[in-house]
This record gives sequence, structure tokens and C-alpha cells, in this order.
Amino acid sequence: MAISQDFIQQLKSRHDIVSIISSYVNLKRHGRGHTGLCPFHSEKTPSFTVYPDTQSFYCFGCGAGGDVITFVRQIENLDYVEAVKFLADKAGLPMPEDGYDDSAARLRTRILELNREAARFFHQTLLSADGARGRSYLVQRGLSPKIITKYGLGYAPDRWNDLMYHLQGKGFSRDEMEKAAVIVRRAKSAYDKFRDRVMFPIIDIRGNVVAFGGRRLGEQGPKYMNSDDTPVFKKSRNLFSLNFAKNVKERRLILAEGYMDVISIFQGGFENVVATLGTALTGEQARLISQYADEVVIAYDSDQAGQAATRRAIGLLGEVGVKTRILRMEGAKDPDEFIKKFGATRFKLLLDGSSNATDFMLSKAREAVDMDTQDGKVDFLKKAVQVLADLSNPLEREVYMAQIAQELSISKDVMSLQVGNVLKSRRKKEAAKEWESIATNQKAYADKINPQSAQYPREARAEEGIIAYLFKNPDALAWVEEQNIQDLFVTDFNRSVYDAICMLLHAGADLSLSALSSSFTPVQMGRISGILAKSSETVNEPQQLADYIDVLRQHKDKWNADDIKHSSVDDLRRLQNQIKSQKFK
Ligand code: GTP
Ligand code: MN
Repeated sequence: MAISQDFIQQLKSRHDIVSIISSYVNLKRHGRGHTGLCPFHSEKTPSFTVYPDTQSFYCFGCGAGGDVITFVRQIENLDYVEAVKFLADKAGLPMPEDGYDDSAARLRTRILELNREAARFFHQTLLSADGARGRSYLVQRGLSPKIITKYGLGYAPDRWNDLMYHLQGKGFSRDEMEKAAVIVRRAKSAYDKFRDRVMFPIIDIRGNVVAFGGRRLGEQGPKYMNSDDTPVFKKSRNLFSLNFAKNVKERRLILAEGYMDVISIFQGGFENVVATLGTALTGEQARLISQYADEVVIAYDSDQAGQAATRRAIGLLGEVGVKTRILRMEGAKDPDEFIKKFGATRFKLLLDGSSNATDFMLSKAREAVDMDTQDGKVDFLKKAVQVLADLSNPLEREVYMAQIAQELSISKDVMSLQVGNVLKSRRKKEAAKEWESIATNQKAYADKINPQSAQYPREARAEEGIIAYLFKNPDALAWVEEQNIQDLFVTDFNRSVYDAICMLLHAGADLSLSALSSSFTPVQMGRISGILAKSSETVNEPQQLADYIDVLRQHKDKWNADDIKHSSVDDLRRLQNQIKSQKFK
């Protein structure tokens, strides 16, 4: 690590943690901090807290925490140096030149260059004599030359090493090709990953080619193949065609199932369309969508898999506050087929008339029972009550309750009583579940970072008390060191934190989370922030510090009957007073 603490301090003074985090999380003032929904795990009540006074954050739900650099590392998926660079760029500060390791950033740049070259190769191959097979497929699928160019579609020839040799000629190494996941490497051989496939470049919102999807033309392998995750690509975080969709003014997106659907819909005149990349929608993608849209029209296939995926998407998008509507296609299995059969105008009508998520769930519930029988109606009522309890808008709930009460010829009061009961019991369950998850998360978390704390909870807590105390009162270090407590630490993790603190203070540095964040991983930083956040209101009395040290002594005494002099609070008080008076001299 070669970035100086001076530079880090300078960076920190330019960036207020609250304003950085605010651009990712909706924060509300609360006591001495700001709270919001944690961006690192899914939750309904805010347990993510940002503390302006210590310029730190901590999530009581999942244990994520640290300083502004840790936050940027985690949310942007960067390593330490890259996160510093990210913040430096934002502040317009040049990075200190000498001796920092930017190999990860360099590799990423190389992979992006390589991907662009590969996309160019696939596209040119499509247009060449070698690409006849790919061209005729795309034409038969109804794509115009214009849309093929717009999406930069390509063809990977039915040979083993064409791309590899092409990239080699452009100066890329096998290593780089493997890291970009465009070749497969075996002990003695290497070959192109995509062969005899129509290629869909996946382009991120900055315009980088980050990965590829390939549609099989022959009989070999799966129908669609996607790039594996690489240093520049995470399947679960990207959406196909978002690079175009993001430019549409309208805050509404169409979510389709596959590449061909997206391109057909786009060709039909609707540019606000995206798809996931061969997997079900993820929470990360839902959050990404919420940055660009308030409403999503889900246009999945009408088969069973598509309907199950629809339900999942309704849930995930609802969690991030995005409204959903569901496109119901009759007479076609997917949007691509629908547009081909009935044309874009009919598709537009479908879009405008798409039913909302509630109608979708209610009609699914209706289909599942026999509405002609009394039992069927009761079953439907039970299901409908659950669906209505999901609505967050009370007015909307009212409207549906009236509608269903009428449909079933029951009184509206009965209906609202039922819904009210479900809501009440759900709230209880949810609160219980959230507490439970906090408890288990924290346990699992603690176990991973500091495995010994489960065996020695009392000692670990004492150690954490000492650490927290030193953070607030670095002037006590001399006294603490006099007590020879380094040997007393029971858990290795806490000892390493203590050692780091001692080292920093001896070097004359300021003690801060940022000063530690180059020596610990983000997960470890989360743990350290947790120690500080949880003790922030309690540990400030020298007596407590002495008690903590006693706990560690007792532990050692158990193992070692030597008579060890107990720490004297008076000594500490005297020493602190001495230090203070020196300062004022
Ligand atoms: P066409 O037959 O080309 O029209 O496909 P489609 O767009 O109708 O695809 P389908 O409905 O079969 O699948 C929708 C999406 O699921 C595709 O665009 C892919 O992203 C993904 N998918 C389909 N088959 C596979 C597969 O075998 N492997 C992977 N990884 N993804 C697939
Ligand atoms: Mn399909």
C-alpha cells in the first residue's frame, strides 16, 4: 500500500460521507445519524446508518460498514486503490503518481479493449463471406440491416481458433483472452468459446462492450451461451440494451425475456426495452432498473416458466418501489412472435392496455379455482385477500376490495376485516423475522471475521471495548500499552485491530476508520465499524476500560496462576491528566 495517509485525509476532507452515500441510498435524518434501506442486503425497515461525526456507516442488519472508501469499494465493486481513484476523480484531485499498484484497473482496460476488438471481429465476420449463415438466420428472424448495425450483432464462425488468432494479431495475450472469457483454455490447447453462433454484444451504460451472448445456429451446445463473469462483467448486475433504454425520457421500461424479444420490440419502435442475461431477474438488476424507471411492463413469455418469472419480477421490483404492469399476449408465445404476427401497432395497444400486477395476480387466483362452486369462491377469497394485503396504497386496496366484494356478493366490511387481519399478522411476522435475521446475520458474520468470538464472547466484547475506547481516547494508548495487554488479547482478529491501532498512533497518524481501511478488507472494516457503532454511546469512562482489561486478565489468570498486578484506574486518570496538561503547556 503506497497511497499516503495525507492524500487520504485530503480526499476525505473533500467528500462528506453523507453526500456520497446519498447518491446511492435515500437517507433520512435520524438522531445523530442518517438512516436508509441498506444497499447491501434486502430489507424493508431501514437499519443502515450513516454517522456524519465519525464519517462512517454501519448496517445493523447485515454488518456492512466502514468509511467512505469502504462504501465505494463495495457499492462500485472496486478494490482499495480503485476506490481511492474513483473518489479522487470525483474531487478533481490527481492521484499521487508514485508506486501504487494499478494492475487490476489496467487489466480491466485491456479486457474492454479486447472485447471491443472481438465485437468488431464478429460483426465484420457477419458481413463477410464467412458470415452468410449468420446473415440468413438474422434475416429469417426479420431483422433489418439497420437494426443489426445498431446492436452491432455478429457471427462467430464455425471454426476453433479464428477469434483467438485475430486477437493475437492485435497484440492480446492468451491470458487476457482467458480473463475476458472469450477463449477456453485446456492444459495443452485453447479454443474460441463461441463457435457457429450469432453474437449479441452486451454494452454497459458507459458504452463499453462488457460481454457477449451467443445464439446457437447448429446443434452443438446450449441454445444461448453468455460470457462468464469477468473483471468487467457481472451477469447479475447488467441488463441487455440498457445502454439504449436509458436515453428514453419516459420513466417506463419494458422488461423482456431474451435478446431476440428486445431487438424485435426495439425494431417495432419501442426503445425503452431491456432483458436479463439468461438468468432470472436479480435484486441488483431491480435496483438498477429503479434508477431509470418508475414503472415496468413485464413482457415475459406466456409459458409456465415465463409466468413464474413474472411473479418473481413483480416481487423484486415492488421491493424497490417500481410499479409493475404485465403484458398479456394472446396468440403468441413471446413479444417477438406477437410483433411478427400482429404488428407493432397491436403491440402498442397491448402495452397501453397491459394489466397491472394486482389484476394479474387476481386473475391467476381466479384461474386456479372453480368459481362456479361455493368452495371455489371461498378459496378465491382467501387468495385475493393475500394479494390485496400486498398493496401498499390504501386507496388502491379500497378499490379492489369493493370490486371483489361485489364479484362475490359479500359485504365490503367482511372483506376489509379479512384484509386487515392478514396485514396485522404479517406485520408481526415480518418484525419477528427481521429480528431473527439480524441475530443470525450477525452471528454468522461474527463467526466468519472473528471465529474465536463465539467461544470467548465475554473476552471478545472486552477487547472490542478497548478498541472502541482507544478510538475515542487515543491519548490513553501509552497507559494501555503499559498494561502489556497485547499478550492478553484472546481473539486474533481483535488483536490485529489493536496492533494496527498501535502502529498508526506510534507513526503519529490520526486514528480513523480511513487510516485502517487500507489494511483490512471491506468485510473486516464492517466488523470494525460495528464495534465502534455499537459502543459509541457507552464506552467513555476510564473505569470501563480498566474493567475490560480486567476481563482479559481474569481469562489469562485462569490459564496461568501467576499473580498479575491489576490495573489501577487511578494510574490511568493521572496519566491522562498529565497528557492533557502537557498539551496545554
Ligand atoms: P429464440 O429461439 O432465439 O427465439 O429464443 P428466444 O428469444 O425465444 O429465447 P427463449 O425464450 O428460449 O429464452 C429467452 C432467453 O433465455 C434467451 O434470450 C436467453 O437469454 C435465455 N436462454 C434461453 N436458452 C438458454 C440456454 O440454453 N442457456 C442460457 N444461459 N440462457 C438461455
Ligand atoms: Mn422466447
